[in-house]
Parts: sequence; structure tokens; C-alpha cells
Amino acid sequence: MSNIAKMKFLYKFFRKKIWQCQLGRGSLLYDSAQICNPQNNPKRIQIGNHTHIRGEILLFKHGGKVSIGDYCYLGEGSRIWSGIEILIGDRVLISHMVSIYDNTTHPMRADLRHFHYREILVKGHPDKIDLSEKRVEICSDAWIGSHAVILRGVKIGEGAVVAAGSIVTKDVQDYTLVAGNPAKKIRALEKPPAHFMAWNE
Ligand SMILES: CC(C)(COP(=O)(O)OP(=O)(O)OC[C@H]1O[C@@H](n2cnc3c(N)ncnc32)[C@H](O)[C@@H]1OP(=O)(O)O)[C@@H](O)C(=O)NCCC(=O)NCCS
Repeated sequence: MSNIAKMKFLYKFFRKKIWQCQLGRGSLLYDSAQICNPQNNPKRIQIGNHTHIRGEILLFKHGGKVSIGDYCYLGEGSRIWSGIEILIGDRVLISHMVSIYDNTTHPMRADLRHFHYREILVKGHPDKIDLSEKRVEICSDAWIGSHAVILRGVKIGEGAVVAAGSIVTKDVQDYTLVAGNPAKKIRALEKPPAHFMAWNE
């Protein structure tokens, strides 16, 4: 490896924080990608094979875990912020500017929220805090449209589609299109043929 190639590798390694996650074969962290893992345990952010990341994956200091499967996409400006667990299957497309949270991100009580904010500014995120965490799951073959928001406790079913700009507050059934704020069922979607399902097993 030439010196320039070595420098390029080191630049990518440090700038994109590759060591903060487990990155599968053929997966890419683009220049816009951000990995923020204050737990300093790369096993807490697992990215499968052939997955392309342009957005941000952030764990809180007090908890959080993110697992993304194979052949997924996380678009630019999209954020996955975990305080407990966010599980994403295979072949999931997450467009740009999507937000996915498994917690409230700040306390609901005004005084606690203010002191939380000040602590973040001065010392960073706290080691211990209750942010009403509830696990999020996005099953395989789902597609999340741009500017959608997925809130804590939600399960998005297999092959489901979340329309652009939707705010998802409740579970979405398999192969269902939802849209709006709060997201509501628009219609059922066609399932892929059996050979696609068999091919993916
Ligand atoms: C959902 C989507 C794919 C369209 O699917 P579709 O099956 O063609 O749906 P239609 O356009 O026929 O709309 C069906 C109904 O859903 C509503 N709808 C569609 N998209 C909506 C949205 N984003 N928000 C609110 N309602 C929406 C329509 O108004 C329509 O309502 P109606 O039956 O009362 O008239 C498209 O609207 C969308 O959101 N695409 C996301 C694109 C994107 O984010 N791309 C980024 C690159 S990955």
C-alpha cells in the first residue's frame, strides 16, 4: 500500500469512526455518514453486508443498540438514535431526512428537561437517565419515505411502505402502505412472488 493510500485509509477510519461499529462485507459508510457510539463497544452497532450508510447512527451513553441487516440503505440526513434497541431487517430502504427514535430523547418534565439539556452542553449525555425507551423494529423489505418519523415502540411490518412525511406512532402491518400524521393505513400492498421469498431465505 502506498503512503497516499495509507493516509486515505486512516482518514476514512478516523473521520467516519469505522471502529465504532461492526461493518459487514461490501458495506459502505459514505462521507456524510456519522457513527456516534459513546459506549465504545462496536458490537452495539452492527451493520450487515452490502449495506450503504449516508446518514447518522447514534447511541446514547446510558443505553442503546442498533442492528441493520444486509442490502439496506440509510439516506443522507437520516438519523437513527437509540437508547434501548432499534432492529432493522434485510433489504430495508430508509430514504433521506428520516428520523427513527426508540426514546423520548428528553425528559417530559420541564425542569428535568432543562437540566438534561445543560448537562449535555457541559458534560455530554448522562450515564443514567430514563427516557421512556421502547424498542423499534423495522422488518425486512420495508421502505421508509423521505422526512418520515418513526417513534418509540413501533414495529413496521415486512414489506410495508411508509409514505413521505409520515409520522408513525403505531405498528404497521406487513405489506401495508401508511401515510399522514399520525400515519394511517392507505391500502394493502402486493406480496412479492414466492421465488423472491425463497431466494432471500
Ligand atoms: C406512498 C407513495 C409511494 C405513493 O404510493 P401510491 O400507491 O402511488 O399512492 P397514491 O399516490 O395513489 O396515493 C394513495 C393515497 O395516499 C395519499 N398519500 C400518498 N402519499 C402520501 C403522503 N406522503 N402523505 C400523505 N398522504 C399520502 C394520497 O393522497 C392518496 O389519498 P386518497 O386515496 O385519499 O386520494 C408516495 O406518495 C410516497 O410517499 N413516496 C415516497 C417517495 C420518497 O420518499 N422517495 C425518496 C427516495 S427513496
